[in-house]
Amino acid sequence: MLDVRADFPILERQINGKPIVYLDSAATSLKPRCVIDAVTNFYTLHTANVHRAVHALAEEATEQFEDTRRVLARLINCDENEAVFVRGTTEAINMVHRCYPGLKRSVTTAIEHHSNLLPWGFGPDRHIVSVDAEGRIDMDALDAVLAGGIDLVAVSHVSNAIGAVQPIKDIIDRAHAAGALVLVDAAQSAPHLPLDVKELDVDFLGFSAHKMLGPGGIGCLYAKAEHLDKMSTWMLGGHVVDQVHREGYTLQEVPHRFEAGTPAIEAVIGWGAALRYLAGIGLDNVHEHDRELVTYARNRLSDIDHVKLIGPTDPQRSGSAVSFQVDGLEAHGVARMLNNRENIMVRSGFHCAQPLHESLDLLPTVRASFYVYNTKEEVDSLAQCLEAVIQFL
Ligand SMILES: Cc1ncc(COP(=O)(O)O)c(C=O)c1O
Repeated sequence: MLDVRADFPILERQINGKPIVYLDSAATSLKPRCVIDAVTNFYTLHTANVHRAVHALAEEATEQFEDTRRVLARLINCDENEAVFVRGTTEAINMVHRCYPGLKRSVTTAIEHHSNLLPWGFGPDRHIVSVDAEGRIDMDALDAVLAGGIDLVAVSHVSNAIGAVQPIKDIIDRAHAAGALVLVDAAQSAPHLPLDVKELDVDFLGFSAHKMLGPGGIGCLYAKAEHLDKMSTWMLGGHVVDQVHREGYTLQEVPHRFEAGTPAIEAVIGWGAALRYLAGIGLDNVHEHDRELVTYARNRLSDIDHVKLIGPTDPQRSGSAVSFQVDGLEAHGVARMLNNRENIMVRSGFHCAQPLHESLDLLPTVRASFYVYNTKEEVDSLAQCLEAVIQFL
């Protein structure tokens, strides 16, 4: 198990004289001191806009900003010009939808976050492949849809709602064999496991900094260089243009032509610190830590009467979240009770995946999600608090 809690200042905080037990990292992660310091340092010493002026502060800011792109590219094994800064996973997906030509016929799955469902629209050209109670995609149904002619498969790597991990390489290979491109929503996988976009041969991949120890308001769209070349720009303004005359303009090279206006400079620089921190731990070790916690949590919670676990039973198919229901109690009530009694912070509801709940006939669930700073003792606190309440049922 990792031992990094001392790096997270917020964990020193107490509410009503008790420590906080943060089990909501699938929503957003806590931030280590190095990230807070990087942002503060930018404001304190290097504040300037990027890619514009030639003065010293501007050059320092630009160097730090572009350094994040280098670290990011190394982490997912892409070329630097294939990593576009966007606001987050949602923007990455919407950008592909708006800017890549000819993605009329698409297929997604019933387990997607709303961010990877709504942009693809509704109607006869949009297909949704079903999943079973453990979040396994119906691969025969996927093949059948692909055989009918599909431009894009849009699929999440790891479900935020029930933690199911998809066989993403297999899906990409099937899609490519049928002539379709693949977009992977990596919001819940990039923070937790090693990703190699070249090895996966994925066409588009989006993820958010705030779920991987970084600041809010920044994320990445990875796209193969050949795809970025085909994409139109959806925002125009400063930085994206090379020449502007009264008669027209010429665009900058990729990825800059997709980054209109002043970016979230401090967030990008803070994300660089987060990525270096994660690389220092090693994504393999993060993955191992998560898996151990999820396995422990599933075992611990499955021993409690009236608690019903949802999602994958196989730890090899589990991400870093455990979802459950408590007989006779609605999910928000359980979450409020955990918070009020022991500062245990979990998410409750449909987790922005309402069609999944509809298709599995599931009421809202409670979700405990883990990251590098969580411990088995915190899982014990969750279990004990649930036991204490359930005894009154
Ligand atoms: C699987 C998945 N996809 C997409 C998103 C959207 O991410 P963001 O809100 O950072 O754009 C989330 C956020 O929870 C998610 O879990």
